[in-house]
Amino acid sequence: MTIKTATVNGVMTIEIARPEKKNALTRVMYQAMCDALIAANADKAVRSVLIQGQPGIFTSGNDIEDFMGSPPRDEEAPVFQFMRALLGCEKPVIAAVNGAAIGIGTTLLLHCDFVYVADDARLAMPFVGLGLVPEFGSSLVVPRLMGHVKAAEKLLLGDPFTGADAVECGIANAVLPAGEVVNQARRVAERFNHLAPSAVRESKRLMRRHSIEQLQETIRVEAEIFGARLRSPEAMEAFQAFFQKRQPDFSKFD
Ligand code: COA
Repeated sequence: MTIKTATVNGVMTIEIARPEKKNALTRVMYQAMCDALIAANADKAVRSVLIQGQPGIFTSGNDIEDFMGSPPRDEEAPVFQFMRALLGCEKPVIAAVNGAAIGIGTTLLLHCDFVYVADDARLAMPFVGLGLVPEFGSSLVVPRLMGHVKAAEKLLLGDPFTGADAVECGIANAVLPAGEVVNQARRVAERFNHLAPSAVRESKRLMRRHSIEQLQETIRVEAEIFGARLRSPEAMEAFQAFFQKRQPDFSKFD
């Protein structure tokens, strides 16, 4: 079981649990997370959702073997269903980030309501380095959050950044000692047990209503380009390099 879910005291926890592959996300795992988010919306006993990884690793992003062997074919691919489910989650979503949060591990945080990061957290959106392009609306949200030049460091160069940087640029709420992150996220999640549930849902909808259509359109445009790039020679070179544990060589491309 690589995605574990449990509802305790009003909080549905979605735990990414594939530590032997650094919590890399497969199609099956996206589907499981999507199903959990849809179930959270429908379940009156759930007042908030907590997404967490394992000690020392949030997620290394999309499984690169899946990228090579079974890239998403269309909008119904599990990764896109997961994106829609997270955007459509009516209840507050809180993320607890320990260790690395790579690729979609960082971009999914842009759509959570609260993000707590460990002092060992390392975030990165290395899409270009993999011959890919930004996804999950990050080409829109990241420049908006921090301005173009800082976004270019993260999206064009793919530079990794710390939890403290994530707080400074508005991606995360606070940095905590690694052992405290999940506890803090859970404390915040449980506060929703004492708040009026439909006022919370309506307020979340109001906060997002201005940007949702633009975001959905961006995700669609990104997905089209991303899908084509997954089959590109540049991406193939990058994926092979990852598994051969070497740097990619893009010198032959123009
Ligand atoms: N897809 C598939 N397998 C992955 C993976 C991914 N995204 N991330 C890690 N793994 C696998 C490794 O291939 C390795 O498998 P092996 O033991 O069979 O060789 C195992 O997980 C451990 O990874 P390793 O790289 O040895 O761990 P590390 O501690 O040295 O580095 C990371 C951890 C997360 C920094 C590194 O694994 C990494 O950069 N992963 C890829 C991140 C990425 O580019 N994701 C896609 C974003 S779009």
